[in-house]
Amino acid sequence: MGKTYLVVGASRGIGAEVAKHFVATGHRVIGVSRTPAIAGEWLKADVSTPEGIEKIIQSVTSETIDALLYMGGTWEAGAFTDAFEITRSPYAETRRVIDVNTIAPIEITKGLMETLQRSSNPKAIFIGALSGFDNGATKEVANTASKFGLRGAVQSLRVAYRGYGVGFSVINPGNVATAEVLDDIQSGRFAAQTPIPMADLIQTIEWILQLSRDVDVSEVNLRQR
Ligand SMILES: NC(=O)c1ccc[n+]([C@@H]2O[C@H](COP(=O)([O-])OP(=O)(O)OC[C@H]3O[C@@H](n4cnc5c(N)ncnc54)[C@H](OP(=O)(O)O)[C@@H]3O)[C@@H](O)[C@H]2O)c1
Repeated sequence: MGKTYLVVGASRGIGAEVAKHFVATGHRVIGVSRTPAIAGEWLKADVSTPEGIEKIIQSVTSETIDALLYMGGTWEAGAFTDAFEITRSPYAETRRVIDVNTIAPIEITKGLMETLQRSSNPKAIFIGALSGFDNGATKEVANTASKFGLRGAVQSLRVAYRGYGVGFSVINPGNVATAEVLDDIQSGRFAAQTPIPMADLIQTIEWILQLSRDVDVSEVNLRQR
């Protein structure tokens, strides 16, 4: 039977591919983004604002959501290229990155816990990054802090909501083969490399979703060879 997935970041990149995959495999997808979702039902919301977070929670409050797939995110302008310079990164940028990558996942999860509990095997899966680990930091301070913070938040959510029956997982990938990453490699903004195939990331999500209620995959790290 088809499940219902709430996919944050359904308009581009990883979230769009995840949304397309689950629609194509017969599931209902509610896709959150500011610009139109690529697949499924579009729920327009800006997760960097309290109003956007509240809109998401209220919109699905009477639904059964089988999984929150928090696949969206943001980073500093020019991040991961020579163009990024910390001294030119303003307060508003730090705020936006941490709002979207750390605060929104916490607050959306809190707001969805009752809704998730209606599922027979609910999960919350978040996209982290390898920069969220010791010795993995990059010069993009806000992005690094947001991904460290996300890992800590999810560890804590697992403790705080013990007994709710929800599985919590963070997937921390290296560069993933989104259109933007492929273009960055092609143009030379990124060094020559082979990014992680989207199919491998999607298979990781599928695997976590299919595990029983009795196990938590706390984190999965996907490294490029
Ligand atoms: N791509 C990679 O290689 C890679 C590697 C490691 C980790 N990650 C992580 O994966 C996540 C997604 O990366 P991506 O490459 O897929 O990015 P992307 O192509 O830029 O897509 C980001 C998605 O997040 C949504 N989003 C951003 N800000 C939002 C906001 N304020 N409100 C609602 N939605 C918002 C965007 O929708 P709208 O703009 O339409 O709102 C879009 O759908 C990020 O957290 C990133 O750190 C990516």
